[in-house]
Amino acid sequence: MSSQRSSFTGKIGFVLAAAGSAVGLGNIWRFPYLAAKYGGGIFLLTYLVLAITFGFTLMIAEIAIGRKTKLSAIGAFKALDKRFTFVGVLGAIIPIIILPYYAVIGGWVMKYFAGFASGATEQMADGNYFSNFIGSVGEPIFWFALFIAITAIVVFFGVEKGVEKVSKIMMPVLIAMILFIAIYVICTMDGALDGVIYYLKPDFSNFSVMTVVAAMGQLFYSMSLAMGIMITYGSYMKKDISIEKSTRQIEWFDTGVAFLAGLMIIPAVFAFSGGDAAALGQGPGLMFVTLPQVFNTMPAGSVIGAVFFIMVFFAALSSSISLMETIVSILMDKTKLNRRASCLIVLGGALLLGLPSSLGYSAWSSVKIIGMQFLDFFDFASNSVLMPIVALITCIFVGYILKPKAVIEEVEVNGKFKSKGLFTVMIRYVAPVFLLVILTSSILSAFGIIKI
Ligand code: TRP
Repeated sequence: MSSQRSSFTGKIGFVLAAAGSAVGLGNIWRFPYLAAKYGGGIFLLTYLVLAITFGFTLMIAEIAIGRKTKLSAIGAFKALDKRFTFVGVLGAIIPIIILPYYAVIGGWVMKYFAGFASGATEQMADGNYFSNFIGSVGEPIFWFALFIAITAIVVFFGVEKGVEKVSKIMMPVLIAMILFIAIYVICTMDGALDGVIYYLKPDFSNFSVMTVVAAMGQLFYSMSLAMGIMITYGSYMKKDISIEKSTRQIEWFDTGVAFLAGLMIIPAVFAFSGGDAAALGQGPGLMFVTLPQVFNTMPAGSVIGAVFFIMVFFAALSSSISLMETIVSILMDKTKLNRRASCLIVLGGALLLGLPSSLGYSAWSSVKIIGMQFLDFFDFASNSVLMPIVALITCIFVGYILKPKAVIEEVEVNGKFKSKGLFTVMIRYVAPVFLLVILTSSILSAFGIIKI
């Protein structure tokens, strides 16, 4: 398998492929609701600081491990040190947890596309529309099943390339639309400027450990870190491409899209609700409640809404394909099942696992795991527990077993590693200690032992 790896063509090919997989619901749906909930400007600042130190270090390490070994996560760790094979396995569990609930949200996106396309804009702008929708049993399950089925069909027939092409065309249009909507909201709506200030100006009184926990989880999620994905991407990367430069570009691109999404949504929340705590803290529904209100005030709002949501759909679909692809290829490697059989098994598993996340807002809303609904629980288990664990062990592995030198050498295959010092200090000292603190506090607080 290792000798037959195809490579990305051209210098920009690698960056585009990795960024295309990284940009998805994490940027457009998840980042804005976390930023709104956990302090606005202070969340943004925390996120940026973490991205250029911590995210940078981890992404460099993962890509370098992949390119060095030319293997995906499990094989790569195994090849470097057998005792660390479990890190690869642990990382592989994460997409299995994420994919089902990702598809639940993807289903919501499809529903909203269908709603705008059928001209139901005014109804959708009603404050209760979203809660009525997710509070019903059948419809969210239908859209979830449709989304995961489309993902599976693409993976089953191996036509990812086609979808990738479509989403590559859609991506710039999506970004332009986000920018346009942000400008529209800020320039035409009363109260929106307060939202801009809330989003951009760090208010240290809003800071808590939770700000850091949330920002850190979001960083992993959005940049697809600490789950072996970037190792796989690195394994396809050619030696004449700079790991350091590519990492910076992926990071800026991913962060840029998330930033703009926040700029589109948070000022609108202020315009429609005055920015009271309940509106800011509403969580996963934020985008679905706020944007229809914006589109409802626009001329041709139904068309704009439909176009917007279909583009979010493609961004989400390309990510969910990449998530499913990861699971399918691991299954194929481990069981010798063929692609189609593996795909059907993953589809079945995702349908089963996603069902509780969907029902958690309706029929099963009273069922709680450590005080959380299913969707929140899966989100927490992957982003706040498993990813920090994988990241922590990766840092210890690279810092003390493999040694930073091995990564530095791989990065320096083509030129100087400018942030070598930062990388070494981060991976050996700062990141492990920091991760341990974050991990412990998020687990203790989930079990109600401490309040953060
Ligand atoms: N980063 C993706 C997003 O922002 C979500 C994601 C997490 C992902 N892990 C992944 C996508 C693995 C592809 C592969 O939406």
